[in-house]
Amino acid sequence: MSDHKQLVLDEVRTYHRETAPDREFVPGVTEIWPSGAVLDEEDRVAIVEAALTLRIAAGPSSKKFESAFAKRLKRRKAHLTNSGSSANLLAVSALTSHQLGERRLKPGDEVITVAAGFPTTVNPILQNGLVPVFVDVDLATYNTTADRVARAIGPKTRAIIIAHALGNPFEVAEVAQLARDHDLFLIEDNCDAVGSTYDGQITGTFGDLTTVSFYPAHHLTMGEGGCVLTSDLGLARIVESLRDWGRDCWCEPGKNNTCFKRFEYQMGDLPAGYDHKYIFSHVGYNLKGTDIQAALGLSQLAKLDGFIEARRRNWRRLREGLDGVPGLLLPEPTPRSEPSWFGFVITVDPEAPFSRAELVEHLEERKIGTRRLFAGNLTRQPAYIGRPHRVVGDLTNSDVITEHTFWIGVYPGLTDEMVDYMTATVKEFVARHG
Ligand SMILES: Cc1ncc(COP(=O)(O)O)c(C=O)c1O
Repeated sequence: MSDHKQLVLDEVRTYHRETAPDREFVPGVTEIWPSGAVLDEEDRVAIVEAALTLRIAAGPSSKKFESAFAKRLKRRKAHLTNSGSSANLLAVSALTSHQLGERRLKPGDEVITVAAGFPTTVNPILQNGLVPVFVDVDLATYNTTADRVARAIGPKTRAIIIAHALGNPFEVAEVAQLARDHDLFLIEDNCDAVGSTYDGQITGTFGDLTTVSFYPAHHLTMGEGGCVLTSDLGLARIVESLRDWGRDCWCEPGKNNTCFKRFEYQMGDLPAGYDHKYIFSHVGYNLKGTDIQAALGLSQLAKLDGFIEARRRNWRRLREGLDGVPGLLLPEPTPRSEPSWFGFVITVDPEAPFSRAELVEHLEERKIGTRRLFAGNLTRQPAYIGRPHRVVGDLTNSDVITEHTFWIGVYPGLTDEMVDYMTATVKEFVARHG
């Protein structure tokens, strides 16, 4: 490392220590966020070091992150994207590729998903001219069940995309078996669940494709960012092509002629020898990340185990602290799973002498941040009314979630003192309204 670079990075470390925020927690004054990035000195150094190299597009750090993350999530390939939503768009779009032949999804084909969740798990279905088939979820786990998925499979069903709800795995082994039995593709939206396991197996390894988000609320952050992972090399090529403008060439950024026949292809109606770098076999996008994001991702990845453990510890502390409080339905891990939690979900019993809105107001006034279980019942959201879809069974619990559910944080930035204050604040409210 050059002396000047070392000097700059040493200064960055000094700056970091000098500007470290005051850690004193003042109950009712200090904001307790439901989620947030946990960034340390190493992260700051990683970002500055990446900036110093002036490698501002995707490059070696992106490649390094992709192979490290693929290894960590036990998939053969990872493709970095600019968000988790882009990752979902790529995963679903990949299933429509002509390169899948007869297995490809065509407009009007159905994709099973859940009604209560994040919009961009579902949007790529509509964006690709496919039809979402909505099923309900259970309360307490906030996941659907393999039984519900099985009942939703019809003659036009070709794929399933479901998120592991707020870190809690759905019955993914059973759903993967259904997918195999019915020749359906399975996408696991693992954006909220990095590190969760089901039957001892890490989530994201059961389906054909899996997606991750690196937005600050998530287990790892790059500011913005996401990833598509798969062990199917054919799907990986399609994802890469769609991510990178639709090009057929798979050279890494800044590289040429990886295939040794750059000027020997004849595709479409193009003249023979047309530069492979500029042959487009998909109607693609540009959804790539950058090396500055990847440098932060690598620094965050080194801390992933600690982040997961902290999320689990905070969740357990809240769960034990709130156990038995009347009027609240507390979250439960899906049987046979070990979640890597995203948040702590609470449903206020519709019969309770207080409402979700009153409890949320009480918490927010005391600086405890709350969030909704994302969109609630998506079919009731303005964007989705009148869109083609099918509902199988009723969406009673999705409606309960829309009215009565919210979540509070478990992210690693929370201290025991904060978690205990959260518990005490909920209990104080319930005791007053009992
Ligand atoms: C389950 C789920 N899927 C997808 C996303 C989208 O990720 P991003 O915000 O990176 O686009 C989110 C975002 O929080 C999410 O919770």
